[in-house]
Amino acid sequence: MSVVNIPDAAGKILTVQEIDGRLYPRFDPGVLRNVPSLKLRDDDVILCGFPKSGTHWLFEIGRSLLHGKLGTDVKPKESLFVDMVPESELNKVDSPRILNTHVRFDRLPSDVKTKNLKILYVRRNPKDLVVSYYNHTHGEFKDYLPLFSNGLAYGSWFEYVLEWEKIIANNQELSILDVAYENLKEDPIQEIRRLSDFLGVQRNKDFIEEISDFCNFSTMKGRFKDKMGIKDGHNIFYRKGEVGDWKNWFTVAQNEWFDQLYREKMADSKLKFKFTLNED
Ligand code: A3P
Repeated sequence: MSVVNIPDAAGKILTVQEIDGRLYPRFDPGVLRNVPSLKLRDDDVILCGFPKSGTHWLFEIGRSLLHGKLGTDVKPKESLFVDMVPESELNKVDSPRILNTHVRFDRLPSDVKTKNLKILYVRRNPKDLVVSYYNHTHGEFKDYLPLFSNGLAYGSWFEYVLEWEKIIANNQELSILDVAYENLKEDPIQEIRRLSDFLGVQRNKDFIEEISDFCNFSTMKGRFKDKMGIKDGHNIFYRKGEVGDWKNWFTVAQNEWFDQLYREKMADSKLKFKFTLNED
């Protein structure tokens, strides 16, 4: 394990650590190293996504569907965040659990693959993601674009999504639901119904509508405002919740630079990301 300091122009430093050739935030290395060997239950679901892809949102929807009720006094996503929470604590949580992680596919608990557990995978367009990431960690926005291209905590977004594209295409035997943040935003009812079918819980139309309301951005932000994730007076988990906010942050030159980078890195990919709402 070694510590890597990525300096930004404002003199702040994003400190990450390298473990077995991968970058991670400075969580307990023992916990991170234990993730591949976590013992899972047959009814566990695992939620995967690069940081800032909308993982809290999907967690909340998934939990409501699995439990069949809307919970206000329930354990937050963080209590099932396997990158940080020791196995002994995860074991205390009642089933059904939605474990969640940002680690790469090859570091997922091997039980996920051998037991063929359900995997929820969420992805988000990288322009909104980098804005969200910047607002989570702060510093100088302009420094986040090169950082993003080289890899933030959890490494490169490009490598992350390209790997998942291959995994989904080449592993038909795995139960993976691919959810795009932008689709969830455009048509939450349809996406929640798809999720309900995938989880095999068959919730009815009224309940799906209730979940959609219960998990919309302002309701969730209100519910979690006093709990956690408040940094310098800002809510870093429930900030704006929009598609296309990147237009308020990117200069024309930054946007051109980013588009070029995207074209290069994604040249062999069939993945489509929506950068504005209701885009084909
Ligand atoms: P913004 O910073 O763009 O607002 P994660 O949960 O993976 O950390 O992702 C956080 C991002 O998801 C934040 O994006 C946050 O506002 C957004 N988000 C959280 N809950 C949401 C919801 N109910 N609807 C839409 N976006 C949501």
